[in-house]
Amino acid sequence: MSEAKVLTLDGPGGAGKGTISRLVAERLGWRLLDSGALYRLVALAAKRHGIALDDEPALARLAAELDVVFLAEDESTRVLLEGDDVSRELRTEQVGDAASQVAGLNGVRQALLQRQRDFRQAPGLVADGRDMGTVVFPDADLKVFLTASPEERARRRHLQLQEAGVDASLSSLLKEIQARDARDMQRSVAPLKPAEDAITLDTTRLSIPEVVERLTEWLAERGLVPET
Ligand code: DC
Repeated sequence: MSEAKVLTLDGPGGAGKGTISRLVAERLGWRLLDSGALYRLVALAAKRHGIALDDEPALARLAAELDVVFLAEDESTRVLLEGDDVSRELRTEQVGDAASQVAGLNGVRQALLQRQRDFRQAPGLVADGRDMGTVVFPDADLKVFLTASPEERARRRHLQLQEAGVDASLSSLLKEIQARDARDMQRSVAPLKPAEDAITLDTTRLSIPEVVERLTEWLAERGLVPET
C-alpha cells in the first residue's frame, strides 16, 4: 500500500471543496487532486472534437488519452488542454453541466481511475470530488463529506463567478445546482454519497478558515499531521 496519506473531500458542487482543498493542501504541503476538473476536461475535449456527450466508447478513449497539464500557481491552478490554456472556460456552468453528463458514463470513470490514483504521492494528497472516499481512495486516512444548503451553494457559486467576471443569475444557478445534485446522486455508477466511514461536515454556517481549522484538527487527532 502507498506511503502517501490521503484526505478525501467529497460532496456536492458549491459546498466549498475547491477552496478548502487548496488551502488544506497548501498548509500541509500536500498535493491536490481536483477530480472534477478531469470530468470537465473530458467534456471540453468532447466539444472540441465534436464527440456527442452520450458516445461512451469515444468519450472513454478521449478520457484515457486526455492531453492535460496542471500548472500550480499561487492562488490557483492553470490547466492546459492540448497545449491551450482552458482554465477559465473550464469553470463555466455549461462545461460543468456537460461534465455531469459524461461523469455518468462508467467507461469514462474507469478511464480516469488510474490517472487520479497517480496523484497520490508522499507526503500526502488532498483529493476533491464526489467519489474520492467511496471509489478512488477507499483506504484514505481521513474521509470528509462537505455539504451546505442548495441556497448557500448557489450564493457561493454566484460570488465565485462574479469574481471571475462571469455573468449568471442566482435563481438559474440554484436550479442548475439542484438538477446537477439530482443527477450526481441518482446515477448508477459512483453516485454522490458519503463513504460509510466519512465524517459529514455541514459548512452552511461556517467560514472557510473555520472549515480548514476543523479539518486540520481532525488530521492532527489522527496523527496524520503534527499538532498545531
Ligand atoms: O466539482 P465540479 O463541479 O468541478 O465537478 C464537475 C462534474 O463532475 C460534477 O457534475 C460531478 C462530476 N464529478 C464526478 O462525477 N466525480 C468526481 N470525482 C468529480 C466530479
